[in-house]
Amino acid sequence: MNREKLDVDFPTELVREGEVQILVPKLSAFVKKLGDYAPSKAPVFYNPKMELNRDIAVLATQAYQRTVNREISICEPLAGCGVRGVRLAKEVKGVKKVVINDINAKAYQLAKHNVQINGLKKRVTVKNMDANLLLASHGAPHKRFDVIDIDPFGSPVPFMDSAVRAIRDGGLIALTATDMAPLCGVHPKACMRKYGGNPLRTEYCHELAVRLLIGCLAMTAAKYEMGIRVLFSYSTYHYVRVYAALKHGAKMADESIKSMGYVLHCFECFHRETINKPFLEGYGGKCPKCGSKMGFAGPLWLKEIFDKRFCAEMRKEFGNKTFRNIYGIHKMLALIGNEAEFDTLVTYYVVDDVCDKLGLPTVSSEKVCEALKNEGFKAIRTHFNSRGIKTDAPAEKVMQILRGLCTKNDKF
Ligand SMILES: C[S@@+](CC[C@H](N)C(=O)[O-])C[C@H]1O[C@@H](n2cnc3c(N)ncnc32)[C@H](O)[C@@H]1O
Ligand SMILES: [Zn+2]
Repeated sequence: MNREKLDVDFPTELVREGEVQILVPKLSAFVKKLGDYAPSKAPVFYNPKMELNRDIAVLATQAYQRTVNREISICEPLAGCGVRGVRLAKEVKGVKKVVINDINAKAYQLAKHNVQINGLKKRVTVKNMDANLLLASHGAPHKRFDVIDIDPFGSPVPFMDSAVRAIRDGGLIALTATDMAPLCGVHPKACMRKYGGNPLRTEYCHELAVRLLIGCLAMTAAKYEMGIRVLFSYSTYHYVRVYAALKHGAKMADESIKSMGYVLHCFECFHRETINKPFLEGYGGKCPKCGSKMGFAGPLWLKEIFDKRFCAEMRKEFGNKTFRNIYGIHKMLALIGNEAEFDTLVTYYVVDDVCDKLGLPTVSSEKVCEALKNEGFKAIRTHFNSRGIKTDAPAEKVMQILRGLCTKNDKF
């Protein structure tokens, strides 16, 4: 193979991820003191901890390709060392071309090298420009991409408009957001500025974060007369991730807007409710159950955040793969597959938080689910929180069941 010489002035090492080998900055060389976050100290970005995020991207992109059943084009406009784009080109079947881009010249060099060492030069193009400029140059109908994967530092919002304009009708947009402090309500003003919605520091703030990000995408797409269909989404402690298909048409956009609304929450008695309207009409600010002041989150996306068939397709693809983190992915796909069956349930209860507030010893989530189901309610575990339960039971019923399960406790 005729390899161009790589000339970088920092220590590197070869790592394996999925089915590719990737030259990355030698992270250990950039840790100067305890607590240093090596990926952001290195001259080119590579975060080995995001492997699961990339594994899932491979599965979702393959599931999407199978669904459309034709060759697809992919753009990764914020690529760092190129690991994600290279993996998508190598591991997803039916990919005709991938465009990898990064504004950092050293990242561009490394990504080009990684494309080369994986024998992908014919199908993968590497660019070194501003992501918005790149996407804008693909806004014309015949130049648009089937899949655009936005995986930035922090918020994907600065790239959302240009991604929406560069996606073809029916195409797939994937978004990562790592700015959890705004999305989970630590910095509500920043969330309002960026995502156009109010967050709330509740025990289910990670689900709200996903819904705020989706809501922002829906409203961005609506400006260009496009509607969205969410295929898959999830959160981890560090980030949220959303996969949505975009469909052209004013009616589709109007439908998306109808999926927007608010979540009202009482911090005193755990009561919560949704308002599926664009404005907070009828919101008196008082909890109908206990009279305390209620908080609100939104406007945000209230409808489906997973698609049952797409989840099943991803699980099928997973069966053909040998990822490093098999257990973690299996668990996530199983939980989300189940959640997709009960997608009308918005928010969840965290057993430990409710027990704590009631002064009860904590109990097993399985037992709580079982007790709720015995009383005729829906009850499932959620990937959002290992102690979280989604149910259609009202808060007072959840509390009653928890008290019942803890009868040995003197206080109750
Ligand atoms: C979180 S890293 C990308 C990680 C990569 N997607 C992965 O899976 O490993 C974000 C990257 O965006 C690049 N970047 C930041 N602003 C940019 C812009 N305006 N245009 C293009 N690249 C940009 C940074 O240089 C950095 O490499
Ligand atoms: Zn209340």
